[in-house]
Amino acid sequence: MQELVRVELGERAYDICIGGGVLNKAGALIAPLLKRPRVAIVSDSHVASLHLKTLTSALDAEGITHSNLSLPQGEATKSWPFVQQVTEWLLAEKIERNDIVVAFGGGVIGDLVGFASSILRRGVRFVQIPTSLLAQVDSSVGGKTGINTPFGKNLIGAFHQPSLVLADINVLGTLTERDFLAGYGEVAKYGLLGDLGFFEWLEENGPKLAAGDAAARLEAVRRSVQMKADIVARDETEKGERALLNLGHTFCHALEAATGYSDRLLHGEGVAIGCALAFETSARLGLCSQEAPSRVRAHLKDMKMKSDISDISGELPDAAELMKLMMQDKKVSAGTLNFIMARDIGQAFVTSDIDHFTVKSVLTDALTKHP
Ligand code: GLY
Repeated sequence: MQELVRVELGERAYDICIGGGVLNKAGALIAPLLKRPRVAIVSDSHVASLHLKTLTSALDAEGITHSNLSLPQGEATKSWPFVQQVTEWLLAEKIERNDIVVAFGGGVIGDLVGFASSILRRGVRFVQIPTSLLAQVDSSVGGKTGINTPFGKNLIGAFHQPSLVLADINVLGTLTERDFLAGYGEVAKYGLLGDLGFFEWLEENGPKLAAGDAAARLEAVRRSVQMKADIVARDETEKGERALLNLGHTFCHALEAATGYSDRLLHGEGVAIGCALAFETSARLGLCSQEAPSRVRAHLKDMKMKSDISDISGELPDAAELMKLMMQDKKVSAGTLNFIMARDIGQAFVTSDIDHFTVKSVLTDALTKHP
């Protein structure tokens, strides 16, 4: 079973091909894009050890030659030294302006290789083959590419749309439960921000999907990707509506910074907690019912996910410090922080008109429950 979602961006439109076994067909799917039968693959060592052979066999079957660069696994790879390594390797491999670079891995590889492709020879095309749930439903779609710096995450980057995205849901079977559930934080986000029906579907099917049900996984990835594709088509460079995709992210970024971007809190876990905090804040401000945040948390707990600040292990700074970290968010404009709040499940909106004392009181109360 295979699904196709198209990102309608005029001459930069592209397909997202989702299904079990898509990786085995990668050669045939990539071939129509090629001006000559040659690609360069950049992956991480973990993904390469698990899945590179499947990809290269699929390319071999179509007579496409390939070379591979495997980088260290982990967030530290999303940095300047690796931009240099990737671009210089691609030049040494004589990758030309009309060639295709393949980003084969999770969000780190997708963002790094997308950025390297955007600047190589003033822009070469690239194909995303996301191997984590988070990358399949979020980071591989929409053309945000970039790296981290000591000043913050994703502060250097470019919009550079891929030419094709291949999301093989079979590959998700090799993720740890924790990584899978972290990616699920982004899946739940889509229902919470814009589709109550999808959230209800997740409430019913989420546990089955986490247990490995392939049809449920396919449907969850398809619906998430369709929502993202539609939003990106309407607002590619985040002038407005695309900011809704950042539901929960302002809280998340502060918590990630507070935990040193370590494995105390994975990004998708922070998104899930951040979504719950955004609904809590919305309820306290009278924007949505009190039941909404309880329902969000109940679903996250059902999924055996972190749902509150109290689920994060170790020391955390106080609410004032977390507020300071929130003010460093990319969404701060002229000193004002834009928040994504909600009128109900599936009805998120962007506003800068938020009483910071309420946000601080939500954080204070959440920290009080922290052991
Ligand atoms: N991850 C949010 C976006 O792509 O806009």
